[in-house]
Amino acid sequence: MIRVSKIAHATYDTPDLDQQTEYYTDILGLSLAAKEKDTVYLASTVDHHSVVLRKGAQANCVGLSFQIAPDADLGAFEKQVAAHGIQTTRKKDPEPSISEAVVFADPKGTTIEVFKRDAFFHQKFQRKGIVPHKLGHVAFHVADVKHITKFYCDVLGFRESDWMADFFSFLRCGPDHHTLNFMETGSNRHFHSAFELRDWGHMHEACDFLSLNGYKLLWGPGRHGIGHNLFAYHRAPNGLITETFAELDRVNEELGYFEPRPWHRDNPQRPKVWAKDPSASNLWGIMPGDEMMK
Ligand SMILES: [Fe+2]
Repeated sequence: MIRVSKIAHATYDTPDLDQQTEYYTDILGLSLAAKEKDTVYLASTVDHHSVVLRKGAQANCVGLSFQIAPDADLGAFEKQVAAHGIQTTRKKDPEPSISEAVVFADPKGTTIEVFKRDAFFHQKFQRKGIVPHKLGHVAFHVADVKHITKFYCDVLGFRESDWMADFFSFLRCGPDHHTLNFMETGSNRHFHSAFELRDWGHMHEACDFLSLNGYKLLWGPGRHGIGHNLFAYHRAPNGLITETFAELDRVNEELGYFEPRPWHRDNPQRPKVWAKDPSASNLWGIMPGDEMMK
């Protein structure tokens, strides 16, 4: 099968485009790569954009874009998707830097765009704001976790990294422990979008920077059990939750285990089903407040 190998960007509807653009540029420290009438493209990497903001009535993550390998056949990928009875469309020049994409919807209605990156943009990392390495993962509340997990594995080639009991799945499409995660809570909506920082020192700077700019943490800093990443969550001006993280587990795909770390309890640490236990959420012990689930 042809597997997607990287998240390229996430697309969000947001009521106040200017305010949210300012948050991404001045607070998170992404570059404003392009601006059209009601759409803004933001990036921090060799990708032209990692975040797309569109003016919309309600803040929500409405789209996810993934890359397939440069030598993969986009037409064959489209056939692979269609073989599951999924309606696809082929779009020419759908966004800046993307010449052709296969577009379809996941079972909860999020638009999925799959493409091959044929040009790099070599954008400079900013000097102001938090300045993450990249968009790392997007997490969703879902009504049916088994159904959506199977969809991403069967149609896009994701792999299951870990589960928390039977209600929270963590899926990878590359070396990072998770690029998507789905928590069954009864409704389909965005949970959080996560940006990768360098290390603990960068997390520390980011928490102080957020505080100095009026952003209070919702949960963290802590270290998740599942994925073992350092984490800190805050809310963007449009109400959506942003996670900053570092030290996420990385898998050695051929050997089937995560790179060993001193904070692992299993040695080697392999994909597994974790018990619903506070340590799966935060090895350092502090649980999230109700505000995290709003
Ligand atoms: Fe996360």
